[in-house]
Amino acid sequence: MSNAAKLAMAAIFVFLLAVGFWRILSPDLETGKRLAANNCGTCHDLTAQKHHEKGPYMWEVFQRPAGSLTFPYSEAFLQRVKEQPFVWDEAHLDAYILNPESVIPHTRMVEKKSKHPVSFQEISDKSHRRDLIAYLKTLR
Ligand code: HEC
Repeated sequence: MSNAAKLAMAAIFVFLLAVGFWRILSPDLETGKRLAANNCGTCHDLTAQKHHEKGPYMWEVFQRPAGSLTFPYSEAFLQRVKEQPFVWDEAHLDAYILNPESVIPHTRMVEKKSKHPVSFQEISDKSHRRDLIAYLKTLR
């Protein structure tokens, strides 16, 4: 094989490797959408209708100051954002959907009420959280 052919083959190999990594590393919006519908849509409106349901609506949640809507947040929630205001960036969303109480102790989101048929399920898979957050960013 000529050197030029070897070089071309090496280039193709590196290209395919890069495509493979890109696919592994880039978030999957379809998965994110499915997770949002199944795990969040039961309590949160994910549409531009902006209806408050059991929880506040998720439209434009990304970069939104926490607790900034006219929603009847819990005392615990309001107290926490008054003491330490923050916006819903990637780090806060990631921590919150893994363990809501790590961000807002005693938040009503994890309240287990026998009356309410659904309760929050944490998203323990890191790549699923990444997919879900990527999807939440598209809600605008
Ligand atoms: C069992 C119902 C329930 C489920 C399921 C649920 N949430 Fe919530 N969520 C709530 C409630 C209730 C609040 C308000 C918490 C409070 O006032 O303490 C809330 C608050 C929030 C907030 C704060 C919004 C703001 O205006 O500051 C975010 C962000 C959020 N939820 C994201 C999610 C995501 C993402 C999912 C899916 C992984 C999810 N929630 C699943 C009930 C739920």
